[in-house]
Amino acid sequence: MSMFRLVKLVALSLVVTLVIGAMILSHVSSSRWRGVAEASGRTTMVAAHSEQDGWDVPTDVAKMKNPIEATSDSIQKGKQLYEANCAFCHGQTGKGDGPVASSLPEKPADLSNKEVMARLTDGELFWRITKGKRPMPSFEKTLSEKERWHIVNYLRTLAQ
Ligand code: HEC
Repeated sequence: MSMFRLVKLVALSLVVTLVIGAMILSHVSSSRWRGVAEASGRTTMVAAHSEQDGWDVPTDVAKMKNPIEATSDSIQKGKQLYEANCAFCHGQTGKGDGPVASSLPEKPADLSNKEVMARLTDGELFWRITKGKRPMPSFEKTLSEKERWHIVNYLRTLAQ
């Protein structure tokens, strides 16, 4: 075998080794990434599931009476809170057309829809605001109970 052919052979096998090595590496790393994606998918599903259960409003909550009278003062407070916490998803008038609505995986509910809103008691509205449901956040820690009831009073003015 001439020196030249030997060099060529070594070079060739080097290239083959590199290509196979790269293939193995990319396979390993892609399956590792798939593993991570699967794992995070699972946690999302679990979280979404438990929140979905939270949407099944307990009957005693649905019957809960709104402790705050819908005075113009309460409605005004609710409006300010709504505009600061809800409007960017649900829209200024509650139609579900806020600035971030189109980038959400679920369309925000139309809170100006009379039929939808008539089906929900004050207690149910309060519960939904309290617990949230992906992608809607829970307001249990960020808004006081009073504030959540003011919002309920304001929501009633959106669906007319
Ligand atoms: C990040 C966006 C986002 C924010 C912020 C948000 N929501 Fe929602 N909301 C949603 C989405 C999406 C749904 C629909 C969830 C579903 O049914 O799958 C929803 C559902 C609701 C519902 C349930 C309506 C029904 O038909 O059962 C009410 C009530 C509601 N939101 C009120 C509010 C109020 C009040 C606020 C502010 C305190 C608020 N939301 C903040 C996205 C949002």
